[in-house]
Amino acid sequence: MYLLNDNYCLQLVRDSSEYLNIELHHHGILIRIVSLNNDQCSTLTHRLCETVDEFNVLIIDLLETSISNIRVTVDENLEISFPVRFGSRNYEKLWSFRIELRLETNTADEISLDPSDWNDLRLLGHKIMDNMIDYMRDVRLRPTWRPLPLIIKETILNGDLPLQGQSPWEVYDEVCTTILPYVMGNIHPLFWGHVYGTGSTIGALAEFITGTMNTMSWGGQQASIYLERKVLSWLKQMIGFPNDETSSGILVSGTSVATIIALAVARKKFHERTMIIYCTKDAHSCIIRAANLLGINKENIVHVSTNEQRQIDLEVLETCIDPNTCGFIVGSAGTVGTGAIDNLQGLADICARRPNDLWFHVDGAIGAVACCSRRLRPLFTGLERADSIAFDLHKWLFVPYECGCILVRDGQLHRSTFAQPTVSYLTLLDGGITPSEGEHFFSDYGLELSRNTKAVKVWMTLKTYGIERFGRIMEQNVDQALYFAHLIEQHSNQFELLAKVTLNIVCFRYIVCQSNIIDENDMLNKFNKRLLIMIQERGIAIVSPFVIGTNTFALRMCITNHRTRLTDMDKFIEQMIQLARELLNTDEFAILKTMGSM
Ligand SMILES: Cc1ncc(COP(=O)(O)O)c(C=O)c1O
Repeated sequence: MYLLNDNYCLQLVRDSSEYLNIELHHHGILIRIVSLNNDQCSTLTHRLCETVDEFNVLIIDLLETSISNIRVTVDENLEISFPVRFGSRNYEKLWSFRIELRLETNTADEISLDPSDWNDLRLLGHKIMDNMIDYMRDVRLRPTWRPLPLIIKETILNGDLPLQGQSPWEVYDEVCTTILPYVMGNIHPLFWGHVYGTGSTIGALAEFITGTMNTMSWGGQQASIYLERKVLSWLKQMIGFPNDETSSGILVSGTSVATIIALAVARKKFHERTMIIYCTKDAHSCIIRAANLLGINKENIVHVSTNEQRQIDLEVLETCIDPNTCGFIVGSAGTVGTGAIDNLQGLADICARRPNDLWFHVDGAIGAVACCSRRLRPLFTGLERADSIAFDLHKWLFVPYECGCILVRDGQLHRSTFAQPTVSYLTLLDGGITPSEGEHFFSDYGLELSRNTKAVKVWMTLKTYGIERFGRIMEQNVDQALYFAHLIEQHSNQFELLAKVTLNIVCFRYIVCQSNIIDENDMLNKFNKRLLIMIQERGIAIVSPFVIGTNTFALRMCITNHRTRLTDMDKFIEQMIQLARELLNTDEFAILKTMGSM
């Protein structure tokens, strides 16, 4: 590979046929290839070289002596010039010729979606890239969220079906005015609602690469399949799951789909037997949805009570388990409401006593990836003993949406649940792109045949930042949650903590005054709901709702955010106090104000 001007590189490949391939690379990416035969070399050089081999020698000679004689022009062709000596009189002349590397313009009738002017696309691409990088860099300067104006909703919904195309520049302008300013806001440093991930800058670039390759990743001979196998093996290693061919896994859109897969595999194992699902009321609703989809009756879902730490009560669970049939036992590695972590070791022990009848599943949507952190890892001991683990990479591992994962201990059982008999158009051959031997087909492990490549963004994210950095960010988020809980306790005249903080989630509410003076839970619920809406609508920060017990409305902060700083917590509590004062001065909450001053 020879370096030329402006980050272009040239490679000459003399294959065994009569051709010499000239490859032009830009920033390491192959952008053009032109193949020349003897005749073409001769014509091109005005008979200076008669054959491909002579031409090859000449170019290499020039490249190795004085590369300034070969340069790439703005239209990405090669311009070659060099002095040539004639005869014995040392007569020198500048010899030059040009190799057209540009693709031929299509003069035929066929149309395609490619641009007629690639340079124009390049300009648009550079503009978009610059804007997107600024968009990420300046995120802290914008409000966390802004309401979607009616006019924008109407503009989007009233758009006509485009019969004729328009300039991509115009289309991009519309993206800038109608879409980019009105997003959920979860890349913002002060976004702490639900359990949203912030993504990362590298993840965003990876999405562009993935979209450009657009490679269909069901299986076969292609790097993306090997990449997915590799990242799955890294994830298993990170969690401590058996990291060999006996276990299996697949990247999916998120934990909801991963849970459906896990339940389907367990059902396959227990076929023809009634399977009962055991989980707590705090388990995520995706468990119930998966059960509904797979035809598991409501009567076969048993809600086990929780202990004081909001963990599944193991003693109660043992009394609930039906000894005459099989069960799917769900442990949470961080519940969505409060972040409570079940005693996963205890659950694994219970399941280990009846391995043929009990399936140990972990919902690790939030917490499984926290195994990155040496400090947090012990909270999840037992996770590695699960029969299946469903978890997200788009939350606390900051891979851009969508990206979740399911790992299954019994890889063969997993495959036998989803592998389909071969249909004729998918016949595997002895070689080619989809050989029958040796290649891995992810479509045998999930719901989809056509699937995109999620592995590139995971691979690039993990390699760029490294597991230790993620671990430190997760610890940082947990420390921020603990600090915020401490601030709440320091302001005990105004706020109340509603659940123990074990991970990155803080549930709290504004109490106006000590709660033992006020017995007005409904009024407080109403007040806190209004306060939450105000916080969101003013774009101050995003926290989300949660109901503790039967009827205590909580503001819930969940920090899965690598951009959050500790000082954001101080600012946020001060702003909430201001907003609460404002609310108390409204007629709606005059009673509360009176009570507060009693
Ligand atoms: C604990 C838990 N389980 C499952 C899910 C569902 O995950 P997903 O939205 O990725 O499908 C969530 C989502 O927040 C969650 O917090």
